[in-house]
Amino acid sequence: MSTPTVKIFDTTLRDGEQSPGASMNRAEKMEIAQALVDLGVDIIEAGFPIASPGDFESVREIAMNIKGASICGLARCNPKDIERAWEALKHSELPRIHVFLATSAIHREFKLRMTPDEIISRGVDGVKLAASFCDDVEFSPEDASRTEPDFLCRVVEAAINAGATTVNIPDTVGYATPNHMYKVISDLKNRVPNIDKAVISVHCHDDLGMAVANSLAGVEAGAGQIECTINGIGERAGNASLEEVVMALRTRHDYYNIGTNINTKRLVPTSRLLSNITGLQVQRNKAIVGRNAFAHESGIHQDGMLKEPTTYEIMRPEDVGLEKTDLVLGKHSGRAALSDRAKALGYHLSAEQLQEVFDEFKKLADKKKDIYDGDIASLCDQQIRGE
Ligand code: KIV
Ligand code: ZN
Repeated sequence: MSTPTVKIFDTTLRDGEQSPGASMNRAEKMEIAQALVDLGVDIIEAGFPIASPGDFESVREIAMNIKGASICGLARCNPKDIERAWEALKHSELPRIHVFLATSAIHREFKLRMTPDEIISRGVDGVKLAASFCDDVEFSPEDASRTEPDFLCRVVEAAINAGATTVNIPDTVGYATPNHMYKVISDLKNRVPNIDKAVISVHCHDDLGMAVANSLAGVEAGAGQIECTINGIGERAGNASLEEVVMALRTRHDYYNIGTNINTKRLVPTSRLLSNITGLQVQRNKAIVGRNAFAHESGIHQDGMLKEPTTYEIMRPEDVGLEKTDLVLGKHSGRAALSDRAKALGYHLSAEQLQEVFDEFKKLADKKKDIYDGDIASLCDQQIRGE
C-alpha cells in the first residue's frame, strides 16, 4: 500500500510577500513560481489579484505560463474580488480560487460589524460564485483558531455545501498551540457531517514560534493540506516554514507515516533563490536551510561525525540539497577534525607534527573567528619546514 501524502500549498508569493521587505516584481515572481514547481509543491498561491494591478498581472502571467501545479489566487468574499481573481486565473491548467472571510467574534464585531448569520450567508454566496467559475474552490474562515467551535462547525458545513472543495483553517494571529490545533481539526472531523467531501487544510502563523508544530498537529488530526512558505516568510513573525514541515514529515516518517511530493534536494537551492531575490537573510541557525544547520564546530561532535554521521545528524545534507556537512574549524574543534582537514588539503603529518600544528591552531583560533583552509595550510607548511 502506498504512503498517504499531504498536499503542500505554498503561499510565498501571497502571504510571504505580505511580509515587510519581501515584495517582488513580476519577473522575480515568475522565477520563484518555476522554482516552486521544480520543488514539487502541489498548489502555488500566486497572489491577491484585487490588491493591485501589479498583483493581478503577476497572477495572470503565472496562471498562463506555469505548468505542473495548481495556481491559486486569493479573494475576499465579494463579487468584485472573486471576479477579478477568476480573470487572473482563468488561463491556468489547474486554477483554484481561494475565498476568505473572518469568522471570530473579535473580527465579526470590530472589523466586519456583521452577525453570525450574515457571515454564513456572505461566505456561502462567495463560495457559490467562485464555484460558478471553477471546480477547485478553497474557503478560509479567517481567525478560525479564535472562532467559537460551534460557529466554526456551522461555517465549515455551509461552505462545503456551497461548493468548497478545500476548507482551510487559519491560525491567523499565531495564537494556537499544538494541542489546540489538534482539537480544532479533530472537532471539525467529528462534528461536521459533510467534512469528508472537502480537504481540510491548516494555515499557521508563527507569532509564538509554533507554526510548524501546529501544522504538524493539524496533520495528525487529519488535515490533508499544509499552507506554508519558503524560509517561513510571511505576515509579522511569518508562516509555517515549508522546509521544516517537509523535513519533519520525512525525518519522522516512522511517527507520521505521511509523505509529500516535495523533491527535498531542491530545498536549499529554493531557499537561497528567495533570499537572493528578496534580500531577506536566513538566520544562521534556521532549521534545515540556515548556514549552521549542517555545521559542527565542537571537537566532540566533529569526532563523532567523522566516525559515523548519524551520531550528530538526523538528516543527510545531500537530502536537502547541500553537498556535505561543514566541519568548521574553530577554538572548540579537536585533533580529529584538524587531521581530517589537513589530509584533505594534501598534508600527511606524523603524530608529533599533528600535535605541533594543533597547538598552533588553538592559539590562532583564540585570536581569529574564522579559520580558513589557507590558515591550516600555512600552519602545516611551517611545521613541515621546521619553522
Ligand atoms: O492568515 C490568514 O488568515 C490568511 C488567510 C487569508 C488565509 O492568510
Ligand atoms: Zn496567513
